[in-house]
Amino acid sequence: MTGDSGARSRKWDPVFGKDRAEQRNPMSKRSLSFICQNCGATSHRWQGKCEACGEWNSLAEEGADRPAGPGRKPPKGRLFALEGLQGEARDAPRIASGLAELDRVTGGGFVRGSVLLMAGDPGIGKSTLLIQATAAMARAGHRAVYISGEEAVAQVRLRAERLGLADAPVELASETSVEDIIATLSEGKTPRLIVIDSIQTMWTDLVESAPGTVTQVRGSAQTLIRFAKKSGAAIIMVGHVTKDGQIAGPRVVEHMVDAVLSFEGDGTHQFRILRAVKNRFGPTDEIGVFEMTGAGLAEVANPSKLFLSERDLGQPGTAVFAGMEGTRPILVEIQALVAPTSLGTPRRAVVGWDTSRLAMVLAVLEAHCGVKLGGHDVYLNVAGGMRIHEPAADLAAAAALVSSLANSPLPADGVYFGEVSLSGAIRPVGLAAARLKEAAKLGFSRAVIPDSAKESGDPGLRTSTVGNLSHLVADIAALGKPAKAAKSRGQDG
Ligand code: TYD
Ligand code: MG
Repeated sequence: MTGDSGARSRKWDPVFGKDRAEQRNPMSKRSLSFICQNCGATSHRWQGKCEACGEWNSLAEEGADRPAGPGRKPPKGRLFALEGLQGEARDAPRIASGLAELDRVTGGGFVRGSVLLMAGDPGIGKSTLLIQATAAMARAGHRAVYISGEEAVAQVRLRAERLGLADAPVELASETSVEDIIATLSEGKTPRLIVIDSIQTMWTDLVESAPGTVTQVRGSAQTLIRFAKKSGAAIIMVGHVTKDGQIAGPRVVEHMVDAVLSFEGDGTHQFRILRAVKNRFGPTDEIGVFEMTGAGLAEVANPSKLFLSERDLGQPGTAVFAGMEGTRPILVEIQALVAPTSLGTPRRAVVGWDTSRLAMVLAVLEAHCGVKLGGHDVYLNVAGGMRIHEPAADLAAAAALVSSLANSPLPADGVYFGEVSLSGAIRPVGLAAARLKEAAKLGFSRAVIPDSAKESGDPGLRTSTVGNLSHLVADIAALGKPAKAAKSRGQDG
């Protein structure tokens, strides 16, 4: 036993850990490391597969972050003053951008000295949104700078002209050297807003790796963040997203910045959703809705109207979900198609909702409501390209599924919300009053809701409560004339 612990202490220094133990050993040199370009994990030898994230062929050789050598003295630090929590608040810590939907997501505007990462697929409209925000700030009399590492000045100008922003006093440059950018922006009045489009194109002298590598992106971001904190300028960095939705390479950047906004949408729909994934200075559940038009991104003040604009009224398999995004109610249509399968394993496909959530609702329908779905393909789609994250959508999804299977349309003037538990019980969800109010405002006249939400009813709305999913299934089956045929279809499936 004693021999064993002795061997361990040679590898592991009890006070300084592994690093110190390695530093003492002159044989362990660490001048190179291999960094996963997908997740940023460091490895000391090349491997075909990253052990941290499982991605193949993602390790690339990069210079070590800092030269670690034996006998190297740690640099001496500068003394600084410590302060209490109470103190003089600085003037106007937030500056509204002038775009209401953007301000809603950031929590009221850009905080001085903060750094924000705007992530999104290529072509989604990040550059468009940010040139609009920069122009709005500049028009309000603030110094606003737009640095593009991807486009030439002429290209950005052309776009600004198309957007009708050519007259805004934006300061524009096409640059990629972080040191040059900081040196230039340190002159004169501190900018209120600096847009860096994109962080993947930036490079800093401090790091030797090529632009776009994890080390380079991290180094550039670090330098820019330091500049923001020191100068008080708000910086927005654009970050590209890989095909599986990760902010390319620098997951590490996400931890360094104050806020991460994700700009979502799909190519086939005109509207875009801005969502706060992380926000140190504001809420993370608010969304901003924009519509891509010929003249740039237009703000959408009433998204429910947009999402319900192309409804198939009277068709089986559609239910309107009264959802909430932060403090804002949003009504969306959930569409389901349940059809007999020709495959051995039936298909389950979801767009805009969680696959495991669908599996759960299907399991509850089978186990507690007598709805047999084993012989049916199930497709679920959230209309308009919206993505729903709330469990409150369970009831609407279940209603759409049962309606499709039973081939009986749901009332066109009804909305649904409620969480389904594994026992089949319908559980209450938050902010019922706001959901019902929005539904009444948009002309709906009835709502199917959990038991406990009854007292929050709106006078303009007839509410019916369901305590258990099986009651809903029975109600829907009784709705349509072909209920009997549908029932037998459901049973023989
Ligand atoms: P862009 O802002 O360049 O995307 P990102 O910076 O995220 O890569 O947006 C490019 C897309 O937006 C392009 O496909 C064209 C479209 N677009 C419009 O539809 N209207 C407009 O007014 C502008 C400027 C772009
Ligand atoms: Mg761009």
